[in-house]
Amino acid sequence: MRHRNLVILTGAGISAESGVPTFRADDGLWLGHRIEDVATPGAFARDPSLVQDFYNRRRRQLAEVRPNAAHHALADLAARWEGDFLLVTQNVDDLHDRAHALTPPAPGFELIHMHGELLKAHCTRTGRVCDWPDDLEPQQPSPHHPLGLLRPHIVWFGEMPFMLERIDAAIAACDLFISIGTSGAVYPAAGFVQQARFAGARTVEINLEPTPGSRLFDQGVYGPATQMVPAFVNNLLAG
Ligand code: OAD
Repeated sequence: MRHRNLVILTGAGISAESGVPTFRADDGLWLGHRIEDVATPGAFARDPSLVQDFYNRRRRQLAEVRPNAAHHALADLAARWEGDFLLVTQNVDDLHDRAHALTPPAPGFELIHMHGELLKAHCTRTGRVCDWPDDLEPQQPSPHHPLGLLRPHIVWFGEMPFMLERIDAAIAACDLFISIGTSGAVYPAAGFVQQARFAGARTVEINLEPTPGSRLFDQGVYGPATQMVPAFVNNLLAG
């Protein structure tokens, strides 16, 4: 293999063909909802019932979807990649996790959900995270603090994404950076390609169509993720 240290960033587009809606498409999640009503700390303080309901519906929907060929191709890559491989997803679904559970990764692999996970909740007082596969009540008492509530373990607008230092370090050390199924509309993830270029990495965008940031990538591969990602992974593994 020509490359050793790999960072892959994924977004909603990789899960679209599994049936998980993206955010900015014509039928996307943000068109039916105002971000400030459901995805900010202020929204949760004002109307916890609306916010919990929004995420309860998305959490329930996970039972109806399955990883697709793109998730499985990345799991296969993680099993066979001989260097470091950081998979950073902006997605809060568990489709990468399920694919990697079926095909266990090599030791250099790590998966980070930088925008959180639907199947987890955290305490508003202590920040402690716990698995939460069920609905959350509007005022769900926290098991971790008598005055705490449980909220979705999701990074809302105005909050800091998770594990940015670890992500920055991996990008600084990578020689191949691939962005899959993201519009590049939300920072800091949208800036990762520039960091990777600064590190001297080769940069590849795989997306249904070119994005506003396409010119920042050395290579663009356009089409549905379930077709483009397995083909790209095969070529990569073939060297
Ligand atoms: P977007 O909805 O902004 O972008 C999805 C991208 O996937 C678009 O560029 C589509 O063209 C592409 N796409 C759609 N279907 C595809 C397919 N079958 N194959 C390949 N590509 C496809 O979603 P994200 O970029 O993930 O943040 O959005 C980033 C963040 O914005 C989300 O994590 C979320 C949102 O606000 C938070 O909630 C914090």
